Amino acid sequence: MWWILVFAFAGSAAFEEERTTADAIIRFVDTTGVERLGAYVGGGRARVVTSEEPTPDKSWVVGDVVVEVGQLLTPVSPPYVLAIGLNYIDHIIATNSTAPLTPAVFFKGSHSVHHPLSPIVIPEISTKPDYEGELGLVFSRDCKDISEADALDCVLGYVVCHDVSARCYQNEDDADNCPGNGGQYSFSKSFDTHAPIGPRLVSVKTLGNATGLTLQTRVNGDLRQNSTTSSLIFGVQQIVSFMTSGTTIPKHTVVCTGTPDGVGDTMDPPTYLQDGDVVDVYIEHIGVLRNPITRLSTKHGLLGRTHVDFDLDDLLLFPSATA
Ligand SMILES: *[C@@H]1O[C@H](CO)[C@@H](O)[C@H](O)[C@H]1NC(C)=O
Ligand SMILES: *[C@@H]1O[C@H](CO)[C@@H](O)[C@H](O)[C@H]1NC(C)=O
Ligand SMILES: *[C@@H]1O[C@H](CO)[C@@H](O)[C@H](O)[C@H]1NC(C)=O
Repeated sequence: MWWILVFAFAGSAAFEEERTTADAIIRFVDTTGVERLGAYVGGGRARVVTSEEPTPDKSWVVGDVVVEVGQLLTPVSPPYVLAIGLNYIDHIIATNSTAPLTPAVFFKGSHSVHHPLSPIVIPEISTKPDYEGELGLVFSRDCKDISEADALDCVLGYVVCHDVSARCYQNEDDADNCPGNGGQYSFSKSFDTHAPIGPRLVSVKTLGNATGLTLQTRVNGDLRQNSTTSSLIFGVQQIVSFMTSGTTIPKHTVVCTGTPDGVGDTMDPPTYLQDGDVVDVYIEHIGVLRNPITRLSTKHGLLGRTHVDFDLDDLLLFPSATA
């Protein structure tokens, strides 16, 4: 369904060359160790994208070469990650918060960016680690002072974001092992590996402003978040317009747009991520972003799970199913 045929003519001897484009890409290391962009075709294989730069209408040209996918990587390498807090009303109510008047922007550091299927490493000081499944948008170019009407021109496409959070430093909470006054959004969400991004990048050409997409988060298969991007308070155009006001947002910056109700911190009783858990964040038309959770102990090194079972077809090929 991703293939579009384009006929190219060159010189007087018009010839027909079949050129294929894809509206969704993955980045991966193939089984011979070469890093590539590709369009996933099933069975663990991808057609290789021939140019990193998308076409003007934001799709990617693919050739005839098909290779085996080895390791799945983030589909883009963002300079840093921005995120929006409190952008779903059910999450705001559940956290006893007040709806912000403008998008509440915070940074997730560049070293928080993390590949699909790789272990999220929880440091010892994070005693209340929590998941947040989110829609991520990817900037197509450097953008500054963009109106809402022009905002989608700054969007290349969409990914799934996992905004892993250390509630300990985020909440105003002086309970055991949670020193400080809370409000440490950037600190509590910037630990290394705390921004998994993937598994595919799906073009804005296909998804538009990305409304109406089912978003679900599962922990060890247990459905914890079940919402739709239609419930975003500030949608994609508003976020892009606001955050580019007076500020250049660089090309390939990823913006995680906020999480709906159902995080572990608001469960009764609160249920934080455990060593060995597996988190799946699913967004319709994009795919499943899966990562295992492991704790880092200064005494014992990595505990928990560093490997997770998967079938790439399950992560990438049922983009419309809600299991
Ligand atoms: C929200 O407020 C209610 C009532 O005061 C309280 O029972 C609940 O624990 C609070 N929830 C959070 C996440 O702070
Ligand atoms: C998003 O796109 C849909 C479909 O094109 C449109 O109906 C809706 O108004 C858009 N939302 C915003 C906030 O622009
Ligand atoms: C998830 O949300 C959809 C839409 O509101 C609903 O139809 C479905 O029953 C929910 N699934 C579960 C398991 O709660």
